[in-house]
Amino acid sequence: MWIRRSNPNYSFPPGLEHNLLWYAFRKFKPQDPIALFEELARRFGPIAHYQIGPEHIVFVNHPEWIREILVVQNDNFVKERTVQRTKMLLGEGMITSEGRQHRAQRQVAQPAFHRQRIGAYADAIVEEAVNLRDSWQAGETLDIAQEMMRLTLRIVARTLFGTELALPQAKALADAINKIMDLYHYLVILPAVETLVHLNAPKVGAFGPARARLDGVVYNMIEDRRRRGSGDSGDLLDMMLAAAGEGPEAEKQLRDQIITIFLAGYETVANALTWTWYLLSENPAARHTLQQEVDAVLAGRTPTLEDVPQLKYCEMALAESMRLYPPAWAMGRRALNDFRLGPYFLPKGTTLLISQFITHREEQYFPDPLRFDPLRFTAEEKAKRPKFVYFPFGAGPRQCIGEAFAWMESVLVMATLAQKWQLQMVPGHRVQPQPLITLRPKYGMKMTVAQVPLGFGNEATSFRKPLSFSRG
Ligand code: HEM
Repeated sequence: MWIRRSNPNYSFPPGLEHNLLWYAFRKFKPQDPIALFEELARRFGPIAHYQIGPEHIVFVNHPEWIREILVVQNDNFVKERTVQRTKMLLGEGMITSEGRQHRAQRQVAQPAFHRQRIGAYADAIVEEAVNLRDSWQAGETLDIAQEMMRLTLRIVARTLFGTELALPQAKALADAINKIMDLYHYLVILPAVETLVHLNAPKVGAFGPARARLDGVVYNMIEDRRRRGSGDSGDLLDMMLAAAGEGPEAEKQLRDQIITIFLAGYETVANALTWTWYLLSENPAARHTLQQEVDAVLAGRTPTLEDVPQLKYCEMALAESMRLYPPAWAMGRRALNDFRLGPYFLPKGTTLLISQFITHREEQYFPDPLRFDPLRFTAEEKAKRPKFVYFPFGAGPRQCIGEAFAWMESVLVMATLAQKWQLQMVPGHRVQPQPLITLRPKYGMKMTVAQVPLGFGNEATSFRKPLSFSRG
């Protein structure tokens, strides 16, 4: 054992005996961090320590300590190295920035995410979902992951940035982002990756052109808005433009902020919806309940904002889906100063890792954890659990700014699509979560589109159960 514990005052949690580099040559695959976290949780439970080279890493899987890191002691932490690496793509936007810059960016964007404001996006969301719904044919097989990506990309572009992405544009944008995601592991693990990208090195050389395509769309959007003038749209793009300074540096910052919201706002929601369709297809009873609720609440109309609070089973199915397949599957922080965590005293520079994927599957809080059961999210059931065992949107000052938007959007999309179609997994299609920036299905999600069976619309008056679900 060669872990160096230089200062005798520090006390580390139990953990891996050898440096992770030692394991890397044996069994740990860097492209499978979830397997490592599962192993740590299985062997050490609530907290585990290991080292990569000289770096101390603590994996935390305990609600009270998760709260300490994200909320109570949050001033002592910044985002960790992997997040810093995403700067190659995101620049200095709200996800990667720190301190005063972060606060200023959050302040500029906040009004666009206020409850009253996001309500105004509901009609556009439903319209986009109806367009998608009407483009599907009974019996066809689709990659639902791609369909959800294109849908949510168009929704973010239209609602927050007042930009209508034509289908080929949305596809080009999604393709560029997919290219970048394919390279994600290299971007995170390779040393001096910026130089390698610059030199067009094998594997990572494709990053530059893909990023340039993405930037092209963003700069066009900015230019277009400046040319047309804002009118009185008052959307997020206007707010960002009004707050931006002048000169190349300000232009770059604007680009970073827009790209950050774009990526954070579409990829996460698309994954949440994709995993939900998958789980509903695998659980026909839940799908049946959801279908009944949609028909009872909507009685054949397209949904509106006012329907969202009534679509409680949709919301619970989504919550349960994000428990099992959280789109943001892990978060990382680095300590600025020495700090205490429970009985441990840890040095400045320690990296803290928290994984929604692992904590959301803790048997102690979610009995029979692999079972898909939306009823875990009734208000009564939620009240029985500690708060920080379920945190798909994070917590504290860095909590997701788009949370309310995401819930509303997802519920409206689910109801609109479920009204007409049932999505059925293609038998034998391989399903495997792939932990990139978000948790994607590695092989896509091949599903067959089938008409909702006749008779559902007639049950509107006989169905009561979901209407009694209480929201927490
Ligand atoms: C199901 C959908 C979503 C999930 C699961 C999700 C999850 C998260 C999580 C866990 C964080 C915190 C990360 C950390 O603390 O390290 C976060 C931050 C963020 N999210 Fe989301 N998000 C979703 C949708 C959205 C949407 C729709 C938008 C915008 C349109 C958005 C924009 C952001 C931004 C800008 C941040 C950075 C906030 C800050 O640091 O102040 N997200 N998200």
